[in-house]
Amino acid sequence: MNLRPDPRELAAPDDGIAKGAMLLEVKNVSLSFGGVKAITNISFDILKGEIRAIIGPNGAGKTSMLNVINGFYTPQQGTIVFRGEERRAMKPHHAVRQGIARTFQNVALFKGMSTLDNIMAGRSVKMKRGLGWQMLWHGPALAEEIEHREKVEEIIDFLEIQHIRRTPVGKLPYGLQKRVELGRALAMEPSLLLLDEPMAGMNLEEKEDMSRFIIDVNQQRGTTIALIEHDMGVVMDLSDRVVVLDYGKKIADGVPDAVKANKQVIDAYLGVAH
Ligand SMILES: Nc1ncnc2c1ncn2[C@@H]1O[C@H](COP(=O)(O)OP(=O)(O)O)[C@@H](O)[C@H]1O
Ligand SMILES: [Mg+2]
Repeated sequence: MNLRPDPRELAAPDDGIAKGAMLLEVKNVSLSFGGVKAITNISFDILKGEIRAIIGPNGAGKTSMLNVINGFYTPQQGTIVFRGEERRAMKPHHAVRQGIARTFQNVALFKGMSTLDNIMAGRSVKMKRGLGWQMLWHGPALAEEIEHREKVEEIIDFLEIQHIRRTPVGKLPYGLQKRVELGRALAMEPSLLLLDEPMAGMNLEEKEDMSRFIIDVNQQRGTTIALIEHDMGVVMDLSDRVVVLDYGKKIADGVPDAVKANKQVIDAYLGVAH
């Protein structure tokens, strides 16, 4: 039994990008739904190794932006460059293979399945030998299955959720469901992790736990993180840089202190309660 996961074992896969270099570029992206302009001509970048916050009032276009980054939506204008490669049409499962994983604003797990099986499901994208992994218990498939189980156990240790490994996630309190969802995303061993309001609906203690896990993922695994979050204390504590959206437009971009002092940001966002 290994008691503590070795951080080197948990490293994000080497994506060939040096720390601090450009990992992902959003270039002049516009996205509309019928007449609704969700995103208007937005550009920003995400550097390897950073925690990048995306903030803004409800309806600002934050979730839509994550959906463009992970290939769920194809923008009418503009493009995404990931690891130096300009993206053509892409589907979310291509994004996962390229090393982009995400969690959702409303938890999207298999509620009847256990914590363990939900996180294992995140591994399925990594499995070479087909999708019917539960049934494949012979030869090379068995070796692969064992390797996947070891990775999943590492993640369960890392997130301190051993006690709920067999519990159906629908029975868990919301804060723990969010942690399981993080586990599932980590099982994909992403180089870029997208988190859509990972602390929404959490109490203070749960927020502190989640903050610590996000920092550990970033520092121990070297995973680059883009984070949508409403709690400004959390954003200012966690993030290296912040991009601010308002009505689908970018109104500020910079280090937390500069963004906090920006008049447009204060007017649009920081002054109002949510
Ligand atoms: N699938 C969709 N169909 C139509 N309109 C959408 C869709 N997704 C988002 N929108 C609209 O786009 C705008 C931005 O939404 P969203 O990206 O969810 O904002 P945020 O995450 O910042 O709250 C909103 O006006 C929203 O109603
Ligand atoms: Mg949203």
